[in-house]
Amino acid sequence: MNTPTHKHHTWAEPYKIKMVELLRMTTREERLAAIREAGYNTFLTRSRDVYIDLLTDSGTSAMSDRQWAGMMLGDEAYSGSENFYHLESVVQEYYGYKHLVPTHQGRGAENLMSQILIKEGDYVPGNMYFTTTRLHQELAGGTFVDVIVDEAHDPQNAFPFKGNVDLEKLAALVDGVGTDRVPYVSLEGNVNMAGGQPFSMANLRELRLYCDKHDIPIMLDATRTIENAWFIREREDGYAGQPVRDILREICDMTDGCTMSAKKDALVNIGGFFACNDDEVFQKAQNLVVVYEGLHTYGGLAGRDMEAMAQGIREAVTEDHMAARIGQVRYLGRKLEAAGIPLVEPIGSHAIFIDARRFLPHIDQEEYPAQALAAELFIESGIRTMERGNVSAGRDPLTGKNRLPKLELVRLTIPRRVYTQAHMDVVAESVIGVYKRRDKIRGLKMVYEPEYLRFFQARFEPVS
Ligand code: F0G
Repeated sequence: MNTPTHKHHTWAEPYKIKMVELLRMTTREERLAAIREAGYNTFLTRSRDVYIDLLTDSGTSAMSDRQWAGMMLGDEAYSGSENFYHLESVVQEYYGYKHLVPTHQGRGAENLMSQILIKEGDYVPGNMYFTTTRLHQELAGGTFVDVIVDEAHDPQNAFPFKGNVDLEKLAALVDGVGTDRVPYVSLEGNVNMAGGQPFSMANLRELRLYCDKHDIPIMLDATRTIENAWFIREREDGYAGQPVRDILREICDMTDGCTMSAKKDALVNIGGFFACNDDEVFQKAQNLVVVYEGLHTYGGLAGRDMEAMAQGIREAVTEDHMAARIGQVRYLGRKLEAAGIPLVEPIGSHAIFIDARRFLPHIDQEEYPAQALAAELFIESGIRTMERGNVSAGRDPLTGKNRLPKLELVRLTIPRRVYTQAHMDVVAESVIGVYKRRDKIRGLKMVYEPEYLRFFQARFEPVS
């Protein structure tokens, strides 16, 4: 077991810095020109114009010296790479699933799983949608049904397990459409779109009982499940002081398989996997992966990427890593709370989510308040954040109307092991600076809208 972190500073970084990447500072005029050029979409800005990059925690972690050393051990054979077998053994040990199919990243795994398990006309219940996950469900002929607890849709509700599944909502769906129209329950750890909110082990236990009774598999989105395990350790009766790796295994052992974007928890810049226990599903995934990703022993990754992932998983499940990770996010969150900035409560694991509706109450949701706020934060100080609201939610495929989600958020996503406490102070000062002049911020209109996952490439102009 790991020793606890220093008692006087509970989240001090359990590493020191060996290499640095220099940052470029810009003027306000340069940033204004850059965001106009990018159509007021932070996804379309150039990294060189960014000072502190909080766009995502995906693929943006700093790898350790051991991970980099592992990269030198890449076995770049087309088939049977040694690194695949190493990764397979690590996934079996820490996540516990029998079979592994590597993919280039999470959505590659989502594509395989959706195509294999979903048939036309199916319904896929989940604890809130994720953009790529839902799209793959829809492309496979399914309809996503939100069965997360109501608390998750209320940013001001401080319920500690806002990632929980509402079993009544699930039962209503299953009773309505029949079990043969529900291929699996899609369960996400530390629900991204809800603000990085965990489910509890008690809820998963109940879900397992229900699913056993109705013979419905549970497929985990394991992307941030180690962070979910940390919250269970902090908040749930009986788990205080339990090793994170044991809690992770307990979660995985109650599910039937997973998709994983290793770019988050697993501390790598690229990679993902599909894992499962069912032999037949595995065989199908092994077959399908060669169509979309690459041979089943590399799935679109280089051997060295799989080696870095195997080592990253080992580092991610340590208590000192998680204490620093969550501690840093919380440090920023508390500073913003103290200044009265409206946030999603409780503070989640991977990001601070600003409630743009309360930050900019004068902007109608059809004028994309969260998108406007993300652009404004960039102009203020070169901090790059991400909209998670009306733009991300997209249009209802049936009505063609904006889905107008209850959560209209700006995500300040914290990369792992990358920024310092002083950087967090700069971020807090910038958000507070924008808050002071919030009355002057105007909404946006969308002038270009791509068909799929529009938030990545949509373009905007300020409303006149
Ligand atoms: N599932 C969850 C919960 C995610 O957060 C992501 C990615 C994916 C699946 C897809 O994985 O990007 O490796 O293909 N989330 C990133 C983010 C993009 O910024 O939240 P991917």
